Amino acid sequence: MALLFRSDIDSPAWWGDELRALVPDLDFRVWPDTGAVAEIDTALVWRPEPGLLAGLPGLKAIFSLGAGVDHIFADPDLPVGVPVTRVVDADMTGRMTEYVLFHVLRRHLRHDEYRDQQARGEWRELAHPAAAERRVGVMGLGVLGGAAARALADLGFDVAGYSRRARDMPGIDRFHGADGLEPFLNRTEILVCLLPLTAATAGILDERLFDALPDGAWLINVARGNHLVEDDLLAALASGRLAGATLDVFADEPLPASHPFWPHPAITITPHIAAISDPRSIAKQVAENITRLRDGRALINVVDPGAGY
Ligand SMILES: NC(=O)c1ccc[n+]([C@@H]2O[C@H](COP(=O)([O-])OP(=O)(O)OC[C@H]3O[C@@H](n4cnc5c(N)ncnc54)[C@H](OP(=O)(O)O)[C@@H]3O)[C@@H](O)[C@H]2O)c1
Repeated sequence: MALLFRSDIDSPAWWGDELRALVPDLDFRVWPDTGAVAEIDTALVWRPEPGLLAGLPGLKAIFSLGAGVDHIFADPDLPVGVPVTRVVDADMTGRMTEYVLFHVLRRHLRHDEYRDQQARGEWRELAHPAAAERRVGVMGLGVLGGAAARALADLGFDVAGYSRRARDMPGIDRFHGADGLEPFLNRTEILVCLLPLTAATAGILDERLFDALPDGAWLINVARGNHLVEDDLLAALASGRLAGATLDVFADEPLPASHPFWPHPAITITPHIAAISDPRSIAKQVAENITRLRDGRALINVVDPGAGY
């Protein structure tokens, strides 16, 4: 049986080497060189073209190359009943925590304003509150959001988290569900989005949400571009409702050269690098699932197709 690799951003050579080191007899095939499709029983994918997976009649598992699975569930022809797994990985979690801490601290310490002052040769002290007086809110308190919230709280920030279901997390103010969103936003000066992209969360970063934040709030979107209503962000920045935004993810990636976000002085852009998938770390859980499948054991990191994450 064979594994089919399909991604236009991850290195097939690197992934092939890492996986064959762990599963020496693995038949690793790189799309579009599928060979006999009936022999393929697993697929390791990032943004597979719609219909590709439906064309693999012996498919027993679909492995996402990322923590998110929206790129798989977006396929209207996705085979029903084939388990989908996602990445849960300490290396990825660490990278995301670093990214979130950096951009929260950058805003908190007014780094951009000092950089602008330096360009003008201006020596002027700007006030900033103690971390305990800075209210940060993390939307999505799962593997990545939970770790970022914990690290922010450990630095002394006043942290709240927002999730779908009620959960306890010591040292973090918890909000959940439709009723919890507004009070969560009302107290949040720096908002970090780490939600999965699902039917319930698409377009959640919109005018209504921005209006519920305090004036001059800051947005850090490290989840998915389709969480954000782009025109609503531009309007919120123009009105001063938001002071700025750090965006790592975009509806259209790579972000087109003509996009109004590029020259915007209040927007920081990074090219979807907040937490990259490093095969040296992540190949282990893919290999584990290949072995489990062969042994007839339950897979790890399986997502709930009903919830979409
Ligand atoms: N930029 C990057 O480089 C990068 C890298 C990796 C991942 N990501 C993004 O990060 C996302 C989160 O990853 P993760 O591993 O932390 O996911 P996760 O462990 O599945 O956690 C998801 C969290 O979101 C909450 N949630 C889901 N739907 C919700 C809703 N409708 N309302 C409120 N809360 C909701 C969940 O609530 P419950 O706790 O109640 O279930 C959970 O706390 C991924 O889906 C991906 O899009 C980005």
